[in-house]
Amino acid sequence: MHDFELVHDRRNTRSVKWDNLKELYGGEDVLPMWVADMDFQSPQAVIHALKDRAEHGIYGYTITDAAISKAVSRWVEKRHGWRIKPSFLLYSPGVVTSLHMAVQTFTEPGDKVVIQTPVYTPFYNVVKAHDRTLVENPLLFEDGTYRMDFAHLEKCFQDGAKAMILCNPHNPVGRVWTIEELKQLADLCVSYDVLLLSDEIHADLIHEGYTHIPIASLSEEISQRTITFLSPSKTFNLAGLQVSYAVVEQEGMRKQLQETFSKQGFYMLNTMAVAALEAAYNDGEEWLQGLLDILAVNKKLAEEALADNPYISVSPLEGTYLMWLDCRNLNLDQKDLMEFFAKKAKLGFNDGIQFGEAGKGFVRMNIACPPETMREALKRLTDSLKEFEAAL
Ligand SMILES: Cc1ncc(COP(=O)(O)O)c(C=O)c1O
Repeated sequence: MHDFELVHDRRNTRSVKWDNLKELYGGEDVLPMWVADMDFQSPQAVIHALKDRAEHGIYGYTITDAAISKAVSRWVEKRHGWRIKPSFLLYSPGVVTSLHMAVQTFTEPGDKVVIQTPVYTPFYNVVKAHDRTLVENPLLFEDGTYRMDFAHLEKCFQDGAKAMILCNPHNPVGRVWTIEELKQLADLCVSYDVLLLSDEIHADLIHEGYTHIPIASLSEEISQRTITFLSPSKTFNLAGLQVSYAVVEQEGMRKQLQETFSKQGFYMLNTMAVAALEAAYNDGEEWLQGLLDILAVNKKLAEEALADNPYISVSPLEGTYLMWLDCRNLNLDQKDLMEFFAKKAKLGFNDGIQFGEAGKGFVRMNIACPPETMREALKRLTDSLKEFEAAL
């Protein structure tokens, strides 16, 4: 059984999260609760597979053969009830890489691409870097929860949007879109002939009471105009190994996207990524249950620590390990808010504004750490809020 309680020292491993603290937050004593990777070791099966592969000592060009595709399709069917053929898969080093290539392949400069804000920061660049027109369909925020604005979305589609990037589960607001919401979205995409780029990288990280539904699994019509982006990297903490895949059911589209990959010179995953992907998907299920259990513990700790807090409220976390904190009652401008957390609480959060204007007054807290670390973070947070109040 994996020990998710164990605190690991990640410093001096060239960790983006842990080895940049002075530069990013002004001090080495800041506890990093930001970028989306986890402070847990990957499953033993993955570590063994990597060790075995490393010990072989020869790291030549590597194929993603039928056994790999089978591991992927079995995983997707088992976890999400979605039957995909191995032939639908296109591998790539990352979801962001694939999104860039999809936008280049299926849209032209000037074309409108819709995103629903606040959202994962690279989505902005995926659109803008290729001179496409970014169209925002801001999520509606009512009674502490977010939902899609379908009326405005339809206007965006009527105005000629060519594509939309969906985030499901939605980083940073933590929503797992329901079947009703996804059906409504799919109907709109079909009616207005909009291509759907569905980033479902957090699909395996779903909290109790919620279900992830791959939008392409809803109907033949929507699957023919959807590219789904998935990866074991968030699920099994493999981000540094750079491995992901796109599921493209429509054959013509798959060929076009494959051509773009080739034109960019991308044709092969790295040796270690392939070994890790296979081990994670074939032998990682029990580990994943342990992960979900520990995330539930941390989620509860955070919700309890902040319940009835006058300054911070927590958006319901349905999926992901990224908690969205509404700090607007602190009445601090964004720079002061981030400084308050870094300098007074000694906590390194993601600045809400990096996800868009609607993130003003918010921060994102990564809860994928051992409960001991989580307790320490929450102590720092609640103590600093008490100090804040005392100083008023
Ligand atoms: C919604 C979303 N998409 C993509 C990524 C990154 O994917 P990759 O590392 O495969 O490019 C992240 C990482 O946090 C994410 O939250």
